[in-house]
Amino acid sequence: MSGTLVVTGSAGMLGRRVVGDATAAGWNVIGLDLRDADLIVDLTDEAATTEAVVDAGPDAIIHCAAWVDVDAAESQEEAALRVNGLASRNIAKAAKAAGARLVAVSTDYVFDGTLTGRPYVESDPTAPIGAYGRTKRVGEEAIAEETDDYVIARTAWLFGWPGKSFPDTMLRVGAERGEVAVVTDQVGSPTWTGHLSPALVELAAPGGVTGVAHTAGGGQTSWHGLTVELYEQAGIEATVNETDSSAFVRPAPRPAWSVLATEREGVPVLPDWREGVSGYLAERSQS
Ligand SMILES: NC(=O)c1ccc[n+]([C@@H]2O[C@H](COP(=O)([O-])OP(=O)(O)OC[C@H]3O[C@@H](n4cnc5c(N)ncnc54)[C@H](OP(=O)(O)O)[C@@H]3O)[C@@H](O)[C@H]2O)c1
Repeated sequence: MSGTLVVTGSAGMLGRRVVGDATAAGWNVIGLDLRDADLIVDLTDEAATTEAVVDAGPDAIIHCAAWVDVDAAESQEEAALRVNGLASRNIAKAAKAAGARLVAVSTDYVFDGTLTGRPYVESDPTAPIGAYGRTKRVGEEAIAEETDDYVIARTAWLFGWPGKSFPDTMLRVGAERGEVAVVTDQVGSPTWTGHLSPALVELAAPGGVTGVAHTAGGGQTSWHGLTVELYEQAGIEATVNETDSSAFVRPAPRPAWSVLATEREGVPVLPDWREGVSGYLAERSQS
């Protein structure tokens, strides 16, 4: 693919991976972030965002920048909203001004998690139960208002290396303590950045689907199931005890059901989450 691609959040866990995959796919990639990037821009600044993006002249933008601290968002919702809502509106306006297609990453937290028996698909109604999900949903709506050629790629339970993630924590804790307790009553679609990133690059190509696209790892498991699989594949001999959310009260409520799948033609389908665990462990062992 030839053309220029701006990747926001290019210094983050997902963005870094997208920069590499898009470059390998032939894009001329320009990274944008608050630090360690080709373009140092605060996306909450509308004028600076438009100027930087229009000057870069992209054919497409993959928007990975976000406020991702789910618990901190509960006490700092306004600050989270500036990034997930306002900055998303700004990047959408800039995309429109530059004539660029926009692929923006969103989350399973836009759903309340009360569905059972089947994955959430794109046409299911959103109903966030916490501040992070509310602010990401505001961002989704802002993007749809500001531009036409966009994809909102919702994903879930994201992990990649390097980066702070659940598997990273569990690998350290398991090796140190030999015993962990993990919740069984939250079920989702763990997603490896190594699977999501090429899908985002594919979605950035001209003429693809527009609107909401669910792009999460295939299959489903609980945090407990993910930990058991992780330790098995990593050869960690730690006991994984079962517990539930009532024993792990945190500032932000978590949806009990975060399984996402696509009902749409033309949306890339990601491999099974267990393959994601293998890919993650392989990339960790190489660094
Ligand atoms: N992590 C998950 O489990 C998960 C699950 C579902 C969806 N997602 C979504 O996936 C996407 C990528 O997440 P990630 O885990 O890769 O996040 P990340 O590692 O925190 O990367 C986000 C990047 O955006 C930057 N950023 C924040 N505010 C900015 C601003 N105002 N202007 C410019 N850049 C800004 C951050 O800089 P600082 O670090 O300096 O703030 C960081 O480098 C996000 O849209 C997130 O909502 C994540």
